[in-house]
Amino acid sequence: MRVDVVTIFPAFFDVLEVSLLGKARGAGLLDVRVHDLRDYTTDRHRTVDDTPYGGGAGMVMKPEPWGLALDAIVADAGDRPTFIFPAPAGERFSQSTARELSEASHLVFGCGRYEGIDERVFAYAATLGDVRLMSLGDYVLNGGEVASMAMIEAIGRLIPGVVGNPESLVEESHEDGLLEYPSYTKPASWRGHEVPDVLLSGHHGRVAEWRHAQRVERTRERRPDLLPADPEA
Ligand code: ADE
Repeated sequence: MRVDVVTIFPAFFDVLEVSLLGKARGAGLLDVRVHDLRDYTTDRHRTVDDTPYGGGAGMVMKPEPWGLALDAIVADAGDRPTFIFPAPAGERFSQSTARELSEASHLVFGCGRYEGIDERVFAYAATLGDVRLMSLGDYVLNGGEVASMAMIEAIGRLIPGVVGNPESLVEESHEDGLLEYPSYTKPASWRGHEVPDVLLSGHHGRVAEWRHAQRVERTRERRPDLLPADPEA
């Protein structure tokens, strides 16, 4: 998969060098290219923002540098990518979105700052490929960089070969609508806290039953919104 990122803070993406995704890049599974939006400005001050039409607080990202940056990426790749613009006003990003996007061959993340990007950039991007405005959740970050990093990790680890043991992708939170069961390792007793007996029993059927019950219980406690509505309620 090819991933392009357009940002005024390329250094945010240095962490892609480390860990699992760094290995995926090394193995050629993930081709990430980070672009500094200011390289696509044409004035001496490398200006990327301006005051909003209609007034109001804050600054808006100017469309011209975005147009040049997106043109350059599309000309280089010669395809119709999926553009992802992180924004609190976007559709909600979830595990199913990550799965869907992990099948794409080319994603372009556009990181907005300030009060956002001039709306016409999204319409222009839609002439070059698919456009998705995506929100990580109901809170506001200072810009799209951290949100893009989170999405690149969530999507990247679903690309076949990136996570060594594909089974570890199946039994985890959000893959089937329930939260993950609790995990323990040695020692069996630690600072007065014990590993549940059933896990030491070697009885696979009982372990599976216990884990499923834990998943349901945790989901009910922490994320009741994930459970089907109770018809008795
Ligand atoms: N940019 C700012 N806030 C965001 C959020 N909650 N999700 C995605 N992108 C954002």
